[in-house]
Amino acid sequence: MAKVGVFVGSVFGGAEEVAQEVVEQLISSGYIAQMYLEPQLDDFLEYRNDAALVITSTTGQGEIPDNLMPLYLALNDQFPQLPKLGYGVISMGDSSYGEDRYCGAGRQFDQLLQQLQAKPVTERLDIDASVNFDALDKAIPWLAGFIKEVI
Ligand SMILES: Cc1cc2nc3c(=O)[nH]c(=O)nc-3n(C[C@H](O)[C@H](O)[C@H](O)COP(=O)(O)O)c2cc1C
Repeated sequence: MAKVGVFVGSVFGGAEEVAQEVVEQLISSGYIAQMYLEPQLDDFLEYRNDAALVITSTTGQGEIPDNLMPLYLALNDQFPQLPKLGYGVISMGDSSYGEDRYCGAGRQFDQLLQQLQAKPVTERLDIDASVNFDALDKAIPWLAGFIKEVI
C-alpha cells in the first residue's frame, strides 16, 4: 500500500490542524499516512520511494518554522538525490507580509525538493490567511487532486 509522510512546519498550530485533517483523509483513502511534527532527515528518507507532503506556515520574514528547519537544513547539507520521491507542498502564509516574504517557507521547500530531483505530484498550493479564513477550504480540494495523481 502506498505510503505518504506528512511533514509539518507550524508556529501557532494552523498548519498542524490542516495536516491532521490531511492525514485522516489520506488514511480513509487507503494510504498509510503519518504526520511528523519534529521531522528528522531519516524520517523523510523513509519515503524516498513513496510520497511526501510538506505542510508549512511561514514565520519571521519569509522563514521556515523552527520545528521544520532542522529537516530543511539536513536536506540542504546532505543533498540526497530523491528521483523516486513524489511530493506536494501546502504553503501557508499571509500576503500582507509582502510579495518577497509571502509563503516563503513553502517556496523554499518546493525549490529544494526540485533541486533534489524529487517529482512534484501536483503544483504547490499557497494559502493566504488574509483571504482564506479557513485554510481547509483550499487544502481539501487540493488534496483530492494530489490523491488522484499520487502513486
Ligand atoms: C510573527 C509572524 C510572522 C509571519 N511572517 C510571515 C511571512 O513572512 N510570510 C508569510 O507569508 N506569512 C507570515 N506569517 C503568517 C503565517 O504564516 C500564517 O498566519 C499561517 O497561517 C500561520 O500558521 P501556523 O498557525 O501554523 O503558524 C507570519 C505570522 C506571524 C504571526
